[in-house]
Amino acid sequence: MRVLFASPEIYPLAKTGGLADVSAGLPKSLAKLDVDMHLLLPGYPSAIEAAENKSIEVEFGDFMGAGPLRLVSARTPDARLPIWLADCPPLFRRPGSPYQDRDRQDWPDNARRFAVFNHVAARLSRGHFLGDWRADIVHANDWPTGLVPAILAETPGQRPATVFTIHNLAYQGLFPPALYPQLGLPDEAFNPDGLEFHGKISFLKAGIRYSDRLTTVSPTYAREILTADYGCGLEGLLQRRARDLVGILNGADYEIWDPSRDVHLPNNFSLEDIAGKRACKTALQEEFGFEANLEVPLIIFISRITDQKMADVVAAALPEVIGDGALCVLLGDGERHLEEQFEAAALRYPGRIAFRVGYEEPLAHRIVAGGDILLHPARYEPCGLTQLYAMRYGTLPVVRSTGGLRDTVVDATDDTLSRGTATGFMFEGVTGDDMVRCVERALGLYRQPLDWRKVQRQAMAQHFGWEEPARRYLALYRSLVPQADAASKPDPEAAEVARAAG
Ligand code: ADP
Ligand code: GLC
Repeated sequence: MRVLFASPEIYPLAKTGGLADVSAGLPKSLAKLDVDMHLLLPGYPSAIEAAENKSIEVEFGDFMGAGPLRLVSARTPDARLPIWLADCPPLFRRPGSPYQDRDRQDWPDNARRFAVFNHVAARLSRGHFLGDWRADIVHANDWPTGLVPAILAETPGQRPATVFTIHNLAYQGLFPPALYPQLGLPDEAFNPDGLEFHGKISFLKAGIRYSDRLTTVSPTYAREILTADYGCGLEGLLQRRARDLVGILNGADYEIWDPSRDVHLPNNFSLEDIAGKRACKTALQEEFGFEANLEVPLIIFISRITDQKMADVVAAALPEVIGDGALCVLLGDGERHLEEQFEAAALRYPGRIAFRVGYEEPLAHRIVAGGDILLHPARYEPCGLTQLYAMRYGTLPVVRSTGGLRDTVVDATDDTLSRGTATGFMFEGVTGDDMVRCVERALGLYRQPLDWRKVQRQAMAQHFGWEEPARRYLALYRSLVPQADAASKPDPEAAEVARAAG
C-alpha cells in the first residue's frame, strides 16, 4: 500500500496547531503497519532546515509559471519517515507561518501557493515525477490540499484513490473567482456542483466534493458538521456525502507526550510514581514569577487565541477564574485584540496570572506537566489534542461538550465519580458563567485531595494512542484499493525505525 500523505504542516518541520501533530503521528503509526508512507510538505525554510538526509530528486526550470521547483527527498527527524519537500522558493521560502506573513496577514497569493503544491501532489501520486513511485492512495488534509482530489478527478489519466480529512471546517480557503485561471483546473469545475461556493473558489469544498472518501477527526464532529450550526454552509454537501464520511478519533503520540520520558521536564513522573509532578509545578510557578506553593491550584490555558477556542470568553472571565485563589498560566497567540486582553489581565494580577504570547514546544510541555487544571473551552472542536496530552500528565481538563472534547473526556458527576470513570469536567453552554461554574466544580474537587487523585489517576490511565486510529485508516485505504498490499514494498528504514521505537 503506497500512500502519499499531503499536509501543509508536519511536526517538527512546520506547526501552527494540531494538524501538524496529526500529520506526524498518524503516518508514523501507519508505517508501523507496513504501509509505504510518503509525506509531502511545501518547502518552507523551517522544513528545509530541519529535514534530514536531503537530496534533490527532481528539478524543473519553471513549474506552472510559479518559478523553479525542486522536489527535495528527505527524512523527518526522529521518525525518519520519507518526505518530499516541494521547494519552490518564490512561493514558499518566506519568513512567517505557512499561511501568513510576519504581521499575521494571509499571504496574498495563497490560492496560487497551495494550488501549485496540490499539482505537485497530484503529479507525484500519478508517477509523473518519479518513474518508480506512484501512489495507491493520496491522503489530503484540510483546505490547503483540497484541490488534490479535484485535480485528480478533473484531469485525464489514471489516478490513485483519494481520502480527504477535515480537521477544521471553518477554514475553507475561499478566494475570488478572478484567481480561478491560476489554479490549473478546467473551467467546467467552477460551478456550484464543483468547487464554487457562493461565487467564490473554495478549496475545502473541492476536497469534500471530489475525494473518494472523507474523514474527520472525531465521531461527534462527524455528526455535528451535518447540521447548520456546525456545517459552515457546507452541511448540504456533507449530507449528500454522508455515506462516504467517517469520524476517526485522533490519537496522541506518546513517544512525544509522555511524562515518564519527556525530555523537556525538570522531573519525570508517571501513573505509578507521580511525585515528580510536584517538582514540575513548583518549577513552573518559579518560571512565571509566582510564589512556589503546591497547595494553590494552577490553571493552564495553551491554545490558539481565537474565537474557536472561546478566547474572548476566557479573557473576560479571567478575574473570576482565579477568584477562588487559583493561579493561571496562559500560552498562545492568535487574534491581537484578545492577546492584548490577556496581557492586560496579567498586568492587573501580577503573581496570579501570567501570559506568554507565542508558542514554544518545550514550554508547552512544561506547562502541561506543571498545571493542575487545563482550561479548554471551545465553540466547536473537531478533535482537540491538548486535552489528551493534559490527561496523560495528570492535568484535569475543563472542556465544553462538543466535538472530540465530548468524545474524550468523562465529566466528573456523582455517578462517574462513584464508578471511578471520571477524567475531567464538562460544560454545555458558551457563556462565561457556564465556563466559570465548571471551573468552580473542578476547584471544588481539587480541595478534596483523595477524590482528586482518583480522577487524576483515571485520566492518566487513558490510552489515546495512534495504534487504533491507524488501523482504522488502513482499513479505509484497503476498502479503496483492496489489491494494493500484495504489490507494494514498505520502506525498510521507516518500518524498522518505527518498530524499534515500539
Ligand atoms: P488546534 O489544532 O485547533 O489548535 P489541537 O488541540 O488539535 O487544537 O492542537 C493543539 C496543538 O497545537 C498542541 O500540540 C498545542 O500544544 C499546539 N498549540 C497550541 N497553541 C498553539 C499556538 N499558538 N501555535 C502553535 N501551536 C500551538
Ligand atoms: C484542527 C482542529 C482540532 C484538531 C486538529 C487535528 O486544528 O481545530 O480540533 O485536533 O485539527 O486534527
